[in-house]
Amino acid sequence: MCGIVGYVGPNVDEKALTVVMEGLARLEYRGYDSAGVALVTEDGIEAEKRAGKLENLRSALDAHPLDGSRTAIGHTRWATHGGPTDGNAHPHRGGQDDKLALIHNGIIENFHSLKKGLLAAGAQFQSETDTEVAAKLVGAEFDKTGDLTTAMLNVVQQLEGAFTLLAIHADQPGVVVGARRNSPLVVGLGDGENFLGSDVAAFIGYTRQALELGQDQIVTITPDGYSVMGFDGRPAEGTHYEVTWDAAAAERGGYATFMEKEINDQPHAVADTLLGRTDESGALVLDEVRISEEQLRAVDKITVVACGTAAYAGMVAKYAIEHWARIPVEVALAHEFRYADPVVDERTLVVSISQSGETMDTLMAVKHARELGAVTVSICNTHGSTIPRESDAVLYTHAGPEIAVASTKAFLAQITAAYILGLYLAQLRGGSYAEDAQAVMRDLADMPAKIQDLLGRMDRVKEMAEFMADTRSVLFLGRNVGYPVAMEGALKLKELAYIHAEGFAAGELKHGPIALIDAGQPVFVIVPSPDTPHDLHKKVVSNIQEIRARGARTLVIAHDGDEDVEPFASEVIRIPACPPMLAPLLAIVPLQVFALQLSTAKGLDVDQPRNLAKSVTVE
Ligand code: G6P
Repeated sequence: MCGIVGYVGPNVDEKALTVVMEGLARLEYRGYDSAGVALVTEDGIEAEKRAGKLENLRSALDAHPLDGSRTAIGHTRWATHGGPTDGNAHPHRGGQDDKLALIHNGIIENFHSLKKGLLAAGAQFQSETDTEVAAKLVGAEFDKTGDLTTAMLNVVQQLEGAFTLLAIHADQPGVVVGARRNSPLVVGLGDGENFLGSDVAAFIGYTRQALELGQDQIVTITPDGYSVMGFDGRPAEGTHYEVTWDAAAAERGGYATFMEKEINDQPHAVADTLLGRTDESGALVLDEVRISEEQLRAVDKITVVACGTAAYAGMVAKYAIEHWARIPVEVALAHEFRYADPVVDERTLVVSISQSGETMDTLMAVKHARELGAVTVSICNTHGSTIPRESDAVLYTHAGPEIAVASTKAFLAQITAAYILGLYLAQLRGGSYAEDAQAVMRDLADMPAKIQDLLGRMDRVKEMAEFMADTRSVLFLGRNVGYPVAMEGALKLKELAYIHAEGFAAGELKHGPIALIDAGQPVFVIVPSPDTPHDLHKKVVSNIQEIRARGARTLVIAHDGDEDVEPFASEVIRIPACPPMLAPLLAIVPLQVFALQLSTAKGLDVDQPRNLAKSVTVE
């Protein structure tokens, strides 16, 4: 999830560079692994780029100012392919004499095979990014056609995955060409100047007139106008609208809080985490692997280490990995693992899960595991952070920066990554589910649309939260993969609304927690899919009856079409039907929305709850 800005306008007072730098400052929330700009000047393309925050780029530009220009692009990076280095920073260059500069947001899934072709033809690469492949391709097409829009059109047809690309060329000043597929791009319409941005925050200081582009469209902007066409080359139209948000709201995508934005980002977080996971033969791949496949095949036990929300994603990982890869998995809170006497050796795979990659408890657990000889894999959202660097292999989640302190979209991305890891291990070890991996990946590919559908059904959940603003205690029950969802639902309510909330395994109810139930006690019950093996569905429906009989207010989360729950539910919250193992990606969403709304109803700080920190870097 990178931020991109483009500008064409008059060549006065270095306005192009100013606009792009201001835009990048407003988009820095989308990533800050590196930043870069490129301008078309009288001498050709001038560019500067630096790893780290925008400040580093600013200092470099102060030391070596660029010439004035009326055409500029700028990029702030959230690393996906290639670490957060100067070399991997955008823009990337292509074409004869490197006359083209290009920036990118997204993941080009088929870049390996495209790169092979370019290398065979003699191209030389300066970075490890997928982006540079697009830069070389568009540059070469420009050399053939002499027109940037045509060059972009010829290239996007070869690309797979999700991308927004912006390009400028030394021989075509006063033009920026953009293309988008599954990644955001909006046009800002000015007077004698035009803008492009990942979102309207990029240009809101200059114009409120915007143009929304459709999927698979190319836009060409000049100071005096713009044109849009489809990837099929046919003319197309964008949709005009006026931006009514202020600059701060624009960064939040118009939502009142980052958390609301991040909950609504979840279809993308899952879709992006799924991108680029297979090689040409259809086999699943991890991002960085510094161990042999033999070592991974020899693993006889997995321990997941994590804290907070990530630990609940780890509990989902246990069900998934044990089911698909048939390896025993235990889940340990990282701080408990570190100072216990864990049974770990070179045949143990220790999987750490961390959004930030900097949680000290988790880092210490990973280091301890390595000292004991374990093989370590990290599931992490932050490129270049410490935990993946300390691990033997890495699977990055692509949720984009998570700003609200309490985790939402990172949780869904972590679960998605855990599924991928389970399927990867199944394939690698050739178990009975190895064959099914591709079918499950197809089921997973349907999940972003289902999450989107679910997000559109949250009105009643919000009403319930408003109505329950004075509630002092809420319980959550789940079974199998619904159990970690219950735990995470309770954690969200504690973190956001400061309410006593507890999650239980539904089967454990009769062994104690049922004593807590009295008249009016609200209890969320996460009901497994009716297709769940071992009659678990029936068993959870019985649990609902048991607590209902004792006066509980049963708030039941059930799949579409599951009518069995109706007679015993005070409220039914429907989620789209999906395979039982994948249900956590849906079932948690209403619980996140409930906690967010209840916190808002109580007038609390949703993004920065009291006493919490986003990244806990002390033990
Ligand atoms: C803190 C945050 C939680 C998060 C946990 C683990 O406690 O408040 O939201 O789940 O750390 O963070 P990590 O970055 O390792 O996923």
